[in-house]
Amino acid sequence: MPDLHPTDVLLTETQIRQRVRELAVDIRRDFPDRLHLVAVLKGAFMFLSDLIRNMDGFVSLDFMAVSSYAKSTTSSGEVRLLKDLDTTLEGRNVVIVEDIVDTGLTLMYLQEILRARGPKTLRTACLLSKPSRRQVDVKVEYVGFSIEDHFVVGYGLDYAEHYRNLPHIAVVGP
Ligand code: IMP
Repeated sequence: MPDLHPTDVLLTETQIRQRVRELAVDIRRDFPDRLHLVAVLKGAFMFLSDLIRNMDGFVSLDFMAVSSYAKSTTSSGEVRLLKDLDTTLEGRNVVIVEDIVDTGLTLMYLQEILRARGPKTLRTACLLSKPSRRQVDVKVEYVGFSIEDHFVVGYGLDYAEHYRNLPHIAVVGP
Protein backbone atom coordinates (compact mmCIF):
# COMPACT_ATOMS: atom_id res chain seq x y z
CA MET A 1 0.00 0.00 0.00
CA PRO A 2 1.20 3.56 -0.68
CA ASP A 3 2.36 5.73 2.21
CA LEU A 4 -0.04 8.57 1.34
CA HIS A 5 -3.83 8.23 1.36
CA PRO A 6 -6.81 10.33 0.28
CA THR A 7 -7.83 12.57 3.17
CA ASP A 8 -10.12 15.54 2.42
CA VAL A 9 -12.45 15.69 -0.59
CA LEU A 10 -11.46 18.74 -2.62
CA LEU A 11 -14.00 18.45 -5.48
CA THR A 12 -17.15 16.35 -5.36
CA GLU A 13 -18.57 14.28 -8.19
CA THR A 14 -21.33 16.85 -8.66
CA GLN A 15 -18.92 19.79 -8.87
CA ILE A 16 -16.80 17.94 -11.42
CA ARG A 17 -19.80 16.88 -13.52
CA GLN A 18 -21.11 20.46 -13.72
CA ARG A 19 -17.76 21.99 -14.57
CA VAL A 20 -16.90 19.37 -17.22
CA ARG A 21 -20.25 20.06 -18.89
CA GLU A 22 -19.45 23.79 -18.97
CA LEU A 23 -16.01 23.12 -20.46
CA ALA A 24 -17.53 20.93 -23.17
CA VAL A 25 -19.97 23.70 -24.08
CA ASP A 26 -17.16 26.30 -24.18
CA ILE A 27 -14.98 24.13 -26.42
CA ARG A 28 -17.86 23.25 -28.74
CA ARG A 29 -18.84 26.91 -29.00
CA ASP A 30 -15.30 27.73 -30.18
CA PHE A 31 -15.12 24.67 -32.47
CA PRO A 32 -18.65 23.78 -33.59
CA ASP A 33 -17.56 21.64 -36.55
CA ARG A 34 -14.92 18.93 -36.75
CA LEU A 35 -12.87 18.67 -33.60
CA HIS A 36 -9.98 16.37 -32.71
CA LEU A 37 -9.18 15.68 -29.06
CA VAL A 38 -5.77 14.42 -27.97
CA ALA A 39 -5.94 12.96 -24.49
CA VAL A 40 -2.87 12.45 -22.35
CA LEU A 41 -2.77 9.05 -20.69
CA LYS A 42 -3.28 7.87 -18.18
CA GLY A 43 -4.61 10.66 -15.98
CA ALA A 44 -6.97 12.27 -18.49
CA PHE A 45 -9.03 9.19 -19.39
CA MET A 46 -11.99 9.94 -17.09
CA PHE A 47 -12.04 13.64 -17.91
CA LEU A 48 -11.98 12.80 -21.63
CA SER A 49 -14.82 10.33 -21.38
CA ASP A 50 -17.07 12.78 -19.55
CA LEU A 51 -16.04 15.64 -21.81
CA ILE A 52 -16.91 13.88 -25.10
CA ARG A 53 -20.24 12.67 -23.75
CA ASN A 54 -21.18 16.33 -23.38
CA MET A 55 -20.30 17.16 -26.99
CA ASP A 56 -22.57 16.77 -30.01
CA GLY A 57 -21.48 16.36 -33.60
CA PHE A 58 -18.24 15.10 -35.07
CA VAL A 59 -15.53 14.65 -32.45
CA SER A 60 -12.59 12.34 -33.07
CA LEU A 61 -9.93 11.43 -30.56
CA ASP A 62 -6.48 10.01 -30.12
CA PHE A 63 -4.19 9.23 -27.20
CA MET A 64 -0.65 9.99 -26.16
CA ALA A 65 1.22 8.77 -23.13
CA VAL A 66 4.04 10.58 -21.39
CA SER A 67 6.09 9.68 -18.35
CA SER A 68 4.69 10.76 -14.98
CA TYR A 69 6.11 11.15 -11.50
CA ALA A 70 6.29 7.41 -10.82
CA LYS A 71 6.15 7.06 -7.03
CA SER A 72 6.99 10.58 -6.05
CA THR A 73 4.73 13.63 -5.67
CA THR A 74 7.20 16.10 -7.16
CA SER A 75 8.20 16.62 -10.76
CA SER A 76 11.61 15.60 -12.02
CA GLY A 77 11.15 18.00 -14.91
CA GLU A 78 11.93 15.17 -17.31
CA VAL A 79 9.29 14.29 -19.89
CA ARG A 80 9.40 11.11 -21.92
CA LEU A 81 7.07 10.16 -24.77
CA LEU A 82 5.76 6.65 -24.08
CA LYS A 83 3.04 6.42 -26.72
CA ASP A 84 2.65 8.54 -29.82
CA LEU A 85 -0.52 9.39 -31.77
CA ASP A 86 -2.03 7.03 -34.33
CA THR A 87 -3.14 9.73 -36.78
CA THR A 88 -1.95 13.02 -38.24
CA LEU A 89 -2.85 16.45 -36.86
CA GLU A 90 -2.29 18.27 -40.15
CA GLY A 91 -4.95 20.93 -40.74
CA ARG A 92 -7.13 19.84 -37.83
CA ASN A 93 -8.65 21.77 -34.93
CA VAL A 94 -6.92 20.04 -32.02
CA VAL A 95 -7.57 20.30 -28.30
CA ILE A 96 -5.13 18.62 -25.91
CA VAL A 97 -7.00 17.07 -22.98
CA GLU A 98 -4.82 16.95 -19.87
CA ASP A 99 -5.62 16.02 -16.28
CA ILE A 100 -3.58 18.60 -14.36
CA VAL A 101 -1.03 21.30 -15.07
CA ASP A 102 1.48 21.57 -12.25
CA THR A 103 4.93 22.93 -13.19
CA GLY A 104 3.73 23.12 -16.80
CA LEU A 105 6.78 21.25 -18.13
CA THR A 106 4.81 18.28 -19.47
CA LEU A 107 2.31 20.46 -21.27
CA MET A 108 5.00 22.73 -22.68
CA TYR A 109 6.70 19.68 -24.18
CA LEU A 110 3.43 18.32 -25.59
CA GLN A 111 2.41 21.63 -27.12
CA GLU A 112 5.81 21.97 -28.79
CA ILE A 113 5.82 18.55 -30.39
CA LEU A 114 2.16 18.73 -31.44
CA ARG A 115 2.44 22.24 -32.87
CA ALA A 116 5.27 20.99 -35.08
CA ARG A 117 2.78 18.59 -36.74
CA GLY A 118 0.84 21.38 -38.41
CA PRO A 119 -2.61 21.47 -36.77
CA LYS A 120 -4.88 24.29 -37.94
CA THR A 121 -5.39 25.29 -34.30
CA LEU A 122 -3.97 23.87 -31.10
CA ARG A 123 -5.57 24.55 -27.73
CA THR A 124 -5.46 22.89 -24.33
CA ALA A 125 -8.13 21.83 -21.84
CA CYS A 126 -7.07 20.76 -18.37
CA LEU A 127 -9.31 19.72 -15.55
CA LEU A 128 -7.05 21.11 -12.83
CA SER A 129 -4.35 23.74 -12.64
CA LYS A 130 -1.95 24.60 -9.82
CA PRO A 131 -0.85 28.13 -10.80
CA SER A 132 1.42 28.60 -7.76
CA ARG A 133 3.60 25.69 -8.92
CA ARG A 134 4.19 26.90 -12.47
CA GLN A 135 7.81 26.90 -13.71
CA VAL A 136 7.10 27.79 -17.32
CA ASP A 137 4.56 30.15 -18.86
CA VAL A 138 2.39 27.66 -20.70
CA LYS A 139 -0.96 28.64 -22.24
CA VAL A 140 -4.13 26.77 -21.20
CA GLU A 141 -7.34 27.99 -22.82
CA TYR A 142 -9.82 25.82 -20.88
CA VAL A 143 -9.26 25.26 -17.15
CA GLY A 144 -11.71 23.29 -15.01
CA PHE A 145 -10.54 24.32 -11.55
CA SER A 146 -7.55 26.25 -10.25
CA ILE A 147 -6.38 24.65 -7.01
CA GLU A 148 -3.84 25.34 -4.27
CA ASP A 149 -0.57 23.46 -4.02
CA HIS A 150 -1.94 20.06 -2.90
CA PHE A 151 -1.16 16.65 -4.31
CA VAL A 152 -4.53 15.32 -5.42
CA VAL A 153 -5.90 11.95 -6.54
CA GLY A 154 -9.08 10.52 -7.99
CA TYR A 155 -11.10 11.00 -11.19
CA GLY A 156 -8.22 9.49 -13.18
CA LEU A 157 -5.37 11.01 -11.16
CA ASP A 158 -3.09 8.68 -9.24
CA TYR A 159 -0.55 8.46 -6.51
CA ALA A 160 1.81 5.56 -7.38
CA GLU A 161 -0.96 4.10 -9.60
CA HIS A 162 -3.50 4.10 -6.76
CA TYR A 163 -6.82 5.95 -6.40
CA ARG A 164 -7.53 6.65 -10.12
CA ASN A 165 -10.93 5.02 -9.59
CA LEU A 166 -12.24 7.53 -7.03
CA PRO A 167 -15.22 9.41 -8.52
CA HIS A 168 -14.21 12.65 -6.74
CA ILE A 169 -10.90 14.49 -6.26
CA ALA A 170 -9.22 14.23 -2.88
CA VAL A 171 -6.07 15.59 -1.28
CA VAL A 172 -3.53 12.97 -0.17
CA GLY A 173 -1.74 13.03 3.14
CA PRO A 174 0.00 10.69 5.58
P1 IMP B 1 3.85 19.06 -14.74
O1 IMP B 1 4.75 18.68 -15.86
O2 IMP B 1 4.64 19.39 -13.49
O3 IMP B 1 2.88 20.16 -15.08
O4 IMP B 1 3.07 17.77 -14.32
C1 IMP B 1 2.04 17.27 -15.05
C2 IMP B 1 1.75 15.84 -14.69
O5 IMP B 1 2.16 15.49 -13.37
C3 IMP B 1 0.26 15.60 -14.73
O6 IMP B 1 -0.16 15.27 -16.03
C4 IMP B 1 0.10 14.49 -13.72
O7 IMP B 1 0.29 13.25 -14.33
C5 IMP B 1 1.19 14.72 -12.71
N1 IMP B 1 0.70 15.47 -11.53
C6 IMP B 1 0.97 16.74 -11.18
N2 IMP B 1 0.34 17.10 -10.05
C7 IMP B 1 -0.37 16.01 -9.68
C8 IMP B 1 -1.27 15.75 -8.59
O8 IMP B 1 -1.55 16.59 -7.71
N3 IMP B 1 -1.81 14.50 -8.57
C9 IMP B 1 -1.55 13.54 -9.49
N4 IMP B 1 -0.74 13.75 -10.52
C10 IMP B 1 -0.15 14.97 -10.62
